[in-house]
Amino acid sequence: MLAAAAPAPAQSDFSSPYVPTPTVAVERMLGLAQVTRDDLVMDLGSGDGRIVIAAAKRHGARATGVEYDPKLVALSRQNALAAGVGERVRFVEGDLFDVDLSPATVVTVYLLPDVNLKLRDKLLRELRPGARVVAHDFDFESWRPDRVESFYAPEKNRGRGGTSRVMLWIVPAEVRGTWVLRSAALPAPGEAQVVLSQNFQVLEGDAMLGERRAALREPALRGAVIRFSLDAVAGPLRFAGEVRGDEIAGTVRGAAGTWPWRATRRR
Ligand SMILES: C[S@@+](CC[C@H](N)C(=O)[O-])C[C@H]1O[C@@H](n2cnc3c(N)ncnc32)[C@H](O)[C@@H]1O
Repeated sequence: MLAAAAPAPAQSDFSSPYVPTPTVAVERMLGLAQVTRDDLVMDLGSGDGRIVIAAAKRHGARATGVEYDPKLVALSRQNALAAGVGERVRFVEGDLFDVDLSPATVVTVYLLPDVNLKLRDKLLRELRPGARVVAHDFDFESWRPDRVESFYAPEKNRGRGGTSRVMLWIVPAEVRGTWVLRSAALPAPGEAQVVLSQNFQVLEGDAMLGERRAALREPALRGAVIRFSLDAVAGPLRFAGEVRGDEIAGTVRGAAGTWPWRATRRR
Protein backbone atom coordinates (compact mmCIF):
# COMPACT_ATOMS: atom_id res chain seq x y z
CA MET A 1 0.00 0.00 0.00
CA LEU A 2 1.06 3.60 -0.44
CA ALA A 3 2.76 4.76 2.72
CA ALA A 4 3.00 8.44 3.67
CA ALA A 5 5.70 10.13 1.62
CA ALA A 6 6.83 13.59 0.62
CA PRO A 7 3.74 15.41 -0.72
CA ALA A 8 3.54 15.85 -4.49
CA PRO A 9 3.11 19.35 -5.89
CA ALA A 10 -0.51 20.50 -5.51
CA GLN A 11 -1.27 20.70 -9.24
CA SER A 12 -4.39 18.56 -9.24
CA ASP A 13 -7.35 17.95 -6.97
CA PHE A 14 -6.57 14.29 -7.48
CA SER A 15 -3.02 13.50 -6.44
CA SER A 16 -1.10 10.45 -5.26
CA PRO A 17 2.12 10.68 -3.24
CA TYR A 18 5.38 9.45 -4.73
CA VAL A 19 6.00 5.88 -3.62
CA PRO A 20 7.89 3.71 -6.11
CA THR A 21 6.57 0.34 -7.20
CA PRO A 22 8.89 -2.43 -5.93
CA THR A 23 11.17 -3.85 -8.65
CA VAL A 24 9.55 -7.29 -8.48
CA ALA A 25 6.10 -5.70 -8.94
CA VAL A 26 7.28 -3.65 -11.95
CA GLU A 27 8.24 -6.90 -13.71
CA ARG A 28 5.00 -8.62 -12.67
CA MET A 29 2.94 -5.68 -14.02
CA LEU A 30 4.69 -5.73 -17.40
CA GLY A 31 4.50 -9.54 -17.50
CA LEU A 32 0.79 -9.53 -16.69
CA ALA A 33 0.19 -7.14 -19.61
CA GLN A 34 2.45 -9.30 -21.84
CA VAL A 35 4.28 -6.19 -23.03
CA THR A 36 6.24 -6.61 -26.27
CA ARG A 37 8.19 -4.38 -28.63
CA ASP A 38 4.93 -3.64 -30.48
CA ASP A 39 3.45 -1.87 -27.46
CA LEU A 40 3.26 1.75 -26.45
CA VAL A 41 3.20 1.72 -22.65
CA MET A 42 2.07 4.80 -20.70
CA ASP A 43 2.75 5.04 -16.97
CA LEU A 44 0.43 7.64 -15.47
CA GLY A 45 2.19 9.27 -12.54
CA SER A 46 5.56 7.87 -13.54
CA GLY A 47 7.65 8.75 -10.47
CA ASP A 48 11.34 8.00 -11.12
CA GLY A 49 10.48 6.40 -14.48
CA ARG A 50 11.12 2.79 -13.44
CA ILE A 51 8.08 1.24 -15.18
CA VAL A 52 8.69 3.22 -18.38
CA ILE A 53 12.38 2.30 -18.40
CA ALA A 54 11.74 -1.40 -17.67
CA ALA A 55 9.12 -1.54 -20.45
CA ALA A 56 11.71 -0.25 -22.93
CA LYS A 57 14.77 -2.08 -21.62
CA ARG A 58 13.38 -5.52 -20.81
CA HIS A 59 10.42 -5.70 -23.19
CA GLY A 60 11.62 -3.53 -26.11
CA ALA A 61 8.46 -1.39 -25.98
CA ARG A 62 8.15 2.31 -26.61
CA ALA A 63 7.04 3.96 -23.40
CA THR A 64 5.87 7.33 -22.08
CA GLY A 65 5.74 8.54 -18.51
CA VAL A 66 3.46 11.35 -17.36
CA GLU A 67 4.46 13.03 -14.12
CA TYR A 68 3.68 16.44 -12.66
CA ASP A 69 6.69 16.68 -10.35
CA PRO A 70 9.48 18.34 -12.39
CA LYS A 71 12.22 16.88 -10.17
CA LEU A 72 10.96 13.36 -10.80
CA VAL A 73 10.72 14.06 -14.54
CA ALA A 74 14.35 15.24 -14.57
CA LEU A 75 15.40 12.17 -12.55
CA SER A 76 13.48 9.88 -14.95
CA ARG A 77 15.23 11.36 -17.98
CA GLN A 78 18.63 10.80 -16.32
CA ASN A 79 17.66 7.25 -15.36
CA ALA A 80 16.53 6.52 -18.92
CA LEU A 81 19.82 7.76 -20.37
CA ALA A 82 21.80 5.72 -17.82
CA ALA A 83 19.76 2.63 -18.79
CA GLY A 84 20.48 3.26 -22.49
CA VAL A 85 16.80 3.61 -23.48
CA GLY A 86 16.68 7.38 -24.08
CA GLU A 87 15.53 6.79 -27.67
CA ARG A 88 12.54 4.61 -26.82
CA VAL A 89 11.08 6.57 -23.91
CA ARG A 90 9.55 9.98 -23.32
CA PHE A 91 8.62 11.79 -20.14
CA VAL A 92 5.86 14.38 -20.22
CA GLU A 93 5.77 16.89 -17.40
CA GLY A 94 2.11 17.53 -16.64
CA ASP A 95 -1.15 16.34 -15.19
CA LEU A 96 -2.08 12.81 -16.22
CA PHE A 97 -5.72 13.90 -16.67
CA ASP A 98 -4.66 16.24 -19.50
CA VAL A 99 -2.91 13.59 -21.60
CA ASP A 100 -4.51 11.89 -24.62
CA LEU A 101 -4.34 8.18 -23.83
CA SER A 102 -5.58 6.96 -27.23
CA PRO A 103 -2.15 5.97 -28.66
CA ALA A 104 -1.38 3.68 -25.67
CA THR A 105 -1.76 -0.08 -25.96
CA VAL A 106 -0.84 -0.57 -22.28
CA VAL A 107 -1.46 1.81 -19.37
CA THR A 108 0.14 1.27 -15.97
CA VAL A 109 -0.87 3.00 -12.74
CA TYR A 110 0.13 3.08 -9.09
CA LEU A 111 -2.28 5.74 -7.88
CA LEU A 112 -4.60 6.16 -4.90
CA PRO A 113 -8.14 4.72 -5.16
CA ASP A 114 -9.92 8.06 -5.67
CA VAL A 115 -7.53 8.94 -8.50
CA ASN A 116 -8.06 5.55 -10.13
CA LEU A 117 -11.80 6.01 -9.88
CA LYS A 118 -11.65 9.43 -11.51
CA LEU A 119 -9.38 7.99 -14.22
CA ARG A 120 -11.63 5.00 -15.00
CA ASP A 121 -13.97 6.78 -17.42
CA LYS A 122 -11.06 8.38 -19.25
CA LEU A 123 -9.40 4.98 -19.72
CA LEU A 124 -12.62 3.43 -21.05
CA ARG A 125 -13.35 6.40 -23.31
CA GLU A 126 -9.90 6.96 -24.81
CA LEU A 127 -8.23 3.54 -24.98
CA ARG A 128 -8.97 1.17 -27.85
CA PRO A 129 -10.84 -2.06 -27.12
CA GLY A 130 -8.22 -4.67 -26.29
CA ALA A 131 -5.81 -2.20 -24.68
CA ARG A 132 -4.48 -3.47 -21.34
CA VAL A 133 -4.53 -1.58 -18.07
CA VAL A 134 -2.35 -2.77 -15.19
CA ALA A 135 -2.51 -1.39 -11.67
CA HIS A 136 -0.44 -1.94 -8.57
CA ASP A 137 -2.32 -2.40 -5.28
CA PHE A 138 -5.40 -0.20 -6.00
CA ASP A 139 -8.21 -1.21 -8.33
CA PHE A 140 -11.06 0.46 -10.24
CA GLU A 141 -13.84 -0.60 -7.85
CA SER A 142 -16.80 -2.02 -9.81
CA TRP A 143 -14.70 -2.56 -12.97
CA ARG A 144 -13.46 -5.96 -11.87
CA PRO A 145 -9.98 -7.06 -12.99
CA ASP A 146 -9.58 -9.81 -15.57
CA ARG A 147 -6.57 -11.17 -13.63
CA VAL A 148 -5.02 -10.60 -10.21
CA GLU A 149 -1.65 -11.69 -8.83
CA SER A 150 -0.44 -11.22 -5.23
CA PHE A 151 3.12 -11.86 -4.09
CA TYR A 152 5.75 -10.88 -1.54
CA ALA A 153 7.77 -7.76 -2.35
CA PRO A 154 10.86 -7.28 -0.16
CA GLU A 155 11.11 -3.54 -1.00
CA LYS A 156 7.58 -2.87 0.22
CA ASN A 157 6.98 -0.68 3.27
CA ARG A 158 10.37 1.01 3.00
CA GLY A 159 12.27 -2.26 2.95
CA ARG A 160 10.32 -4.04 5.69
CA GLY A 161 8.63 -6.20 3.04
CA GLY A 162 4.96 -6.80 2.31
CA THR A 163 2.39 -8.06 -0.16
CA SER A 164 1.96 -6.43 -3.54
CA ARG A 165 -1.10 -6.98 -5.71
CA VAL A 166 -1.05 -6.41 -9.46
CA MET A 167 -4.19 -6.47 -11.59
CA LEU A 168 -4.97 -6.57 -15.30
CA TRP A 169 -7.98 -5.19 -17.15
CA ILE A 170 -8.68 -5.60 -20.88
CA VAL A 171 -10.56 -2.55 -22.17
CA PRO A 172 -13.90 -3.86 -23.48
CA ALA A 173 -15.62 -2.69 -26.66
CA GLU A 174 -18.94 -0.92 -26.11
CA VAL A 175 -21.59 -3.41 -27.23
CA ARG A 176 -24.80 -2.54 -25.41
CA GLY A 177 -27.90 -2.30 -27.56
CA THR A 178 -29.96 -4.23 -30.08
CA TRP A 179 -28.11 -6.14 -32.79
CA VAL A 180 -29.52 -7.74 -35.92
CA LEU A 181 -27.51 -10.87 -36.79
CA ARG A 182 -27.40 -12.35 -40.27
CA SER A 183 -25.97 -15.75 -41.15
CA ALA A 184 -26.79 -18.81 -43.24
CA ALA A 185 -26.32 -20.75 -39.97
CA LEU A 186 -29.53 -19.22 -38.60
CA PRO A 187 -32.96 -20.71 -39.36
CA ALA A 188 -34.82 -19.06 -42.30
CA PRO A 189 -34.82 -16.19 -43.02
CA GLY A 190 -31.26 -16.28 -41.63
CA GLU A 191 -31.74 -13.49 -39.10
CA ALA A 192 -31.76 -13.14 -35.33
CA GLN A 193 -32.06 -10.25 -32.94
CA VAL A 194 -29.83 -10.00 -29.87
CA VAL A 195 -30.25 -7.42 -27.12
CA LEU A 196 -27.11 -6.94 -25.00
CA SER A 197 -26.67 -5.18 -21.69
CA GLN A 198 -23.16 -4.53 -20.44
CA ASN A 199 -21.41 -3.84 -17.16
CA PHE A 200 -17.79 -3.20 -18.24
CA GLN A 201 -16.65 -6.58 -19.69
CA VAL A 202 -19.62 -8.51 -18.27
CA LEU A 203 -22.49 -9.14 -20.72
CA GLU A 204 -26.06 -10.32 -20.41
CA GLY A 205 -28.61 -10.61 -23.15
CA ASP A 206 -31.65 -12.03 -24.83
CA ALA A 207 -32.11 -13.33 -28.34
CA MET A 208 -35.00 -13.85 -30.73
CA LEU A 209 -34.78 -16.39 -33.55
CA GLY A 210 -37.74 -15.30 -35.65
CA GLU A 211 -40.76 -15.43 -33.29
CA ARG A 212 -38.97 -17.73 -30.84
CA ARG A 213 -37.03 -16.51 -27.80
CA ALA A 214 -33.65 -18.28 -27.63
CA ALA A 215 -31.31 -18.52 -24.66
CA LEU A 216 -28.16 -16.47 -25.10
CA ARG A 217 -25.53 -18.56 -23.34
CA GLU A 218 -22.12 -17.62 -21.94
CA PRO A 219 -21.83 -14.18 -23.51
CA ALA A 220 -18.21 -13.03 -23.13
CA LEU A 221 -16.28 -9.98 -24.21
CA ARG A 222 -12.52 -9.66 -24.29
CA GLY A 223 -11.46 -6.39 -25.85
CA ALA A 224 -13.20 -6.32 -29.23
CA VAL A 225 -13.81 -10.08 -29.36
CA ILE A 226 -17.32 -11.21 -28.49
CA ARG A 227 -18.51 -14.80 -27.99
CA PHE A 228 -21.89 -16.33 -27.17
CA SER A 229 -24.06 -19.31 -28.02
CA LEU A 230 -27.66 -19.47 -29.19
CA ASP A 231 -29.79 -22.58 -28.83
CA ALA A 232 -31.29 -23.27 -32.28
CA VAL A 233 -33.63 -26.21 -32.89
CA ALA A 234 -30.79 -28.15 -34.53
CA GLY A 235 -28.49 -27.57 -31.55
CA PRO A 236 -26.27 -24.80 -30.17
CA LEU A 237 -24.73 -22.23 -32.50
CA ARG A 238 -21.46 -20.81 -31.19
CA PHE A 239 -20.72 -17.27 -32.33
CA ALA A 240 -17.33 -15.54 -32.22
CA GLY A 241 -16.75 -12.15 -33.78
CA GLU A 242 -14.93 -8.87 -33.72
CA VAL A 243 -16.75 -5.67 -32.80
CA ARG A 244 -16.04 -2.57 -34.87
CA GLY A 245 -18.29 0.24 -33.77
CA ASP A 246 -21.81 -0.68 -34.85
CA GLU A 247 -20.73 -3.78 -36.79
CA ILE A 248 -19.66 -7.28 -35.78
CA ALA A 249 -18.21 -9.88 -38.15
CA GLY A 250 -17.06 -13.40 -37.38
CA THR A 251 -17.79 -17.08 -37.67
CA VAL A 252 -20.51 -19.27 -36.19
CA ARG A 253 -20.05 -22.98 -35.52
CA GLY A 254 -22.84 -25.52 -35.29
CA ALA A 255 -23.16 -29.31 -35.51
CA ALA A 256 -23.41 -29.08 -39.33
CA GLY A 257 -20.45 -26.76 -39.97
CA THR A 258 -19.05 -23.24 -39.81
CA TRP A 259 -20.45 -20.12 -41.46
CA PRO A 260 -19.69 -16.41 -41.49
CA TRP A 261 -22.00 -14.04 -39.59
CA ARG A 262 -22.42 -10.29 -39.44
CA ALA A 263 -24.38 -8.05 -37.10
CA THR A 264 -25.42 -4.41 -37.20
CA ARG A 265 -26.45 -2.36 -34.18
CA ARG A 266 -29.80 -0.60 -34.37
CA ARG A 267 -29.45 3.07 -33.46
C1 LIG B 1 2.73 6.06 -6.14
S1 LIG B 1 3.73 6.99 -7.22
C2 LIG B 1 4.03 5.79 -8.50
C3 LIG B 1 5.25 6.10 -9.33
C4 LIG B 1 5.51 5.11 -10.45
N1 LIG B 1 4.39 4.96 -11.34
C5 LIG B 1 5.84 3.75 -9.88
O1 LIG B 1 4.94 2.89 -9.92
O2 LIG B 1 6.95 3.57 -9.35
C6 LIG B 1 2.53 8.09 -7.96
C7 LIG B 1 3.17 9.17 -8.81
O3 LIG B 1 2.14 9.82 -9.48
C8 LIG B 1 2.42 11.21 -9.53
N2 LIG B 1 1.12 11.84 -9.70
C9 LIG B 1 0.06 11.80 -8.87
N3 LIG B 1 -1.00 12.43 -9.38
C10 LIG B 1 -0.61 12.90 -10.59
C11 LIG B 1 -1.27 13.64 -11.61
N4 LIG B 1 -2.53 14.04 -11.48
N5 LIG B 1 -0.58 13.94 -12.74
C12 LIG B 1 0.72 13.54 -12.88
N6 LIG B 1 1.39 12.85 -11.94
C13 LIG B 1 0.73 12.51 -10.80
C14 LIG B 1 3.10 11.49 -8.20
O4 LIG B 1 3.92 12.66 -8.26
C15 LIG B 1 3.93 10.21 -8.03
O5 LIG B 1 5.20 10.35 -8.59
